[in-house]
Amino acid sequence: MARVKMAAGNWKMNNGVKAAVEFVSQVIPAVKDSNNEVVLGVPFVCIPDVAKLCAGTNVKVAAQNMYFKDSGAYTGEVSGPMLAELGVSYVIIGHSERREYFAETDETVNLKAKAVFAHGMTPIICCGETLEQRELGIKDEWIRMQVKLALKDLTDEQVSSLVIAYEPIWAIGTGKTATSEQAQEICHLIRECVAELYNREVADAVRVLYGGSVKASNCQELFGMADIDGGLVGGASLKLDEWQAISNC
Ligand code: 13P
Repeated sequence: MARVKMAAGNWKMNNGVKAAVEFVSQVIPAVKDSNNEVVLGVPFVCIPDVAKLCAGTNVKVAAQNMYFKDSGAYTGEVSGPMLAELGVSYVIIGHSERREYFAETDETVNLKAKAVFAHGMTPIICCGETLEQRELGIKDEWIRMQVKLALKDLTDEQVSSLVIAYEPIWAIGTGKTATSEQAQEICHLIRECVAELYNREVADAVRVLYGGSVKASNCQELFGMADIDGGLVGGASLKLDEWQAISNC
């Protein structure tokens, strides 16, 4: 069965509740006929209002992070039950910014992925190499390691339903998009890694996104590649015309 493409926005630390409500109110009618799954990863504080607006529409809500424990003395963290209660569908896990600034590791990514599933949501697991790793010729090994550790002990069914986002760090927020061939090469490598770890059926079902300076002008070419099932989009998901075009790509 053909994989449904996904346009997933990651607002990062942008937009408070007021701006979010205004923006999403305009997004909903603009993407209502999209053939893609449209997802918006908004800041925690915006989730209640955005989830209410999106209920009954084709726009799904994602959180940008989540802690793996359900409750307890973890100051500042947000748990799976809290997000599930609000109607969150997806949780972005292991974004390179969280790995770099907030000490996210492959181990916590794996724990978080399991916790996301435990609460009935779906993880969007991020991976990607630095420019230095690419230049050293170790990008393939690096990505395979990140994928293997992230998926550790997940079931066939879980991996079939989850989303992996390949985001080369050198392409994030730099305006320097990977070429569609570069993006396809690694998205293919990720799918083959899943086939090795699981089986062909699981590998054919898992969705692999590309992220890194995706915009209206390049989404068609990127999303048209055989192993690229859509995009995880930062900056361009904050602009209505760009996001409308990408969502409908
Ligand atoms: P940009 O689209 O702004 O490059 O960000 C990509 C990203 O990090 C999405 O998670």
